[in-house]
Amino acid sequence: MRALLAGRRIVVGVGASLDGWRVAELIDHLAGAEVRVVVARGADRFVTLATLEALSRNTVANDPLAVGQAGLSETSSIGAWAELLVVMPATADTLARLALGLADDALTATALATRAPLLLAPSMDAAAWGHPRTQENLARLVARGARTVGPVAAGGLAPTSSIVAACVAALSPQDLAGMAILVTAGPTHEAIDPVRFLGNRSSGKMGFAIARRAAARGARVTLIAGPVALATPDAVERIDVESAREMHHAVMAREAAAACVIKAAAVADFRPSEVSPIKLKKGAEEGMALLLTRNPDLLAELAERRRSRGAGPVLVGFAAETGDLLRHAREKLARKGCDLLVANDVTLEGAGFGFDTNRALLLGADGVAESLPLMSKLQLADTILDRVLHLVRG
Ligand code: CTP
Repeated sequence: MRALLAGRRIVVGVGASLDGWRVAELIDHLAGAEVRVVVARGADRFVTLATLEALSRNTVANDPLAVGQAGLSETSSIGAWAELLVVMPATADTLARLALGLADDALTATALATRAPLLLAPSMDAAAWGHPRTQENLARLVARGARTVGPVAAGGLAPTSSIVAACVAALSPQDLAGMAILVTAGPTHEAIDPVRFLGNRSSGKMGFAIARRAAARGARVTLIAGPVALATPDAVERIDVESAREMHHAVMAREAAAACVIKAAAVADFRPSEVSPIKLKKGAEEGMALLLTRNPDLLAELAERRRSRGAGPVLVGFAAETGDLLRHAREKLARKGCDLLVANDVTLEGAGFGFDTNRALLLGADGVAESLPLMSKLQLADTILDRVLHLVRG
């Protein structure tokens, strides 16, 4: 997230709530962004202004009448500076003031002074959250374009990681709005017996990064994930599968409805021909042979379906190679019939399995190859999605 937040101008509006201390955690997680803090009346009873000033490395605005630069009020200049106003915790009282357009504390005055998007993270007790007046106020704000994150469990403040993700999404262009994107990620596990499987080293990070960025840019994302230990990105529908055949089933049932299928998964090419229903015992033999059967090639089949239907989703394939990247990439693109191939050499520093960075070669169906520098997987995800947008628009 750090690279996506670098240099962005975020104003954090702090409501008066017991959850005020969580703002310190949020500012910490927004590292890389420039942060200004404005507070609602009474917020300093729950978190000290000194803490907020130290963490944001800036003075905190707590007086709507304070004069700032160039004769403007302090909150006016902060409002004009902001690229995003995130209100956390958004109490019932703060929501009501924002809905009415009051400006009698630094938070609400800033909200009136800014044209930046407004992100609300509600926090209040269940009775206040359930009150029709609160719901009316929130509905009004949402109708005017405010975004929300949470609450969880009737008024509880959303987890900080979700609020950070919502900040990143609110700062992202909505250029994929409404586009249905199907992403596969992670390895597949091919059962040998109830306790063993054949797998590979894919961590799923690249596919999850694509799903996260696509959703942040407004796409409707379905993520078909092999066995990985990764949290589901916000606003992404996730379907967990184990084997190549399960992934095949999940993908084929959904591909026709997608504008684009991005196949970042490392699908096993083979599976054990027989799965033992009981744990295999080693016996006295010095060795054993495992007979394997070919799995379906999902990407090639998607291309074939598209050909026979005469229409279908844009197809993006991946290739993890260990050298001779361009030759393998050209050969694979032709063999799979996809529109874009993302190839990377897993032996390069920072580009192999499990890293948060990648160095990729993008190869288009027109034969044009672009060699990208080392970048975070989130940045590479954005670069791939820029290409997808172009391809989907034709
Ligand atoms: N792929 C797939 N189904 C398979 C194997 C691979 O859809 N059974 C997809 C992967 O998701 C990836 C692309 O094909 O997008 C390339 O995967 P890779 O394993 O590199 O391709 P293979 O055809 O298996 O080539 P290789 O001979 O190099 O293993």
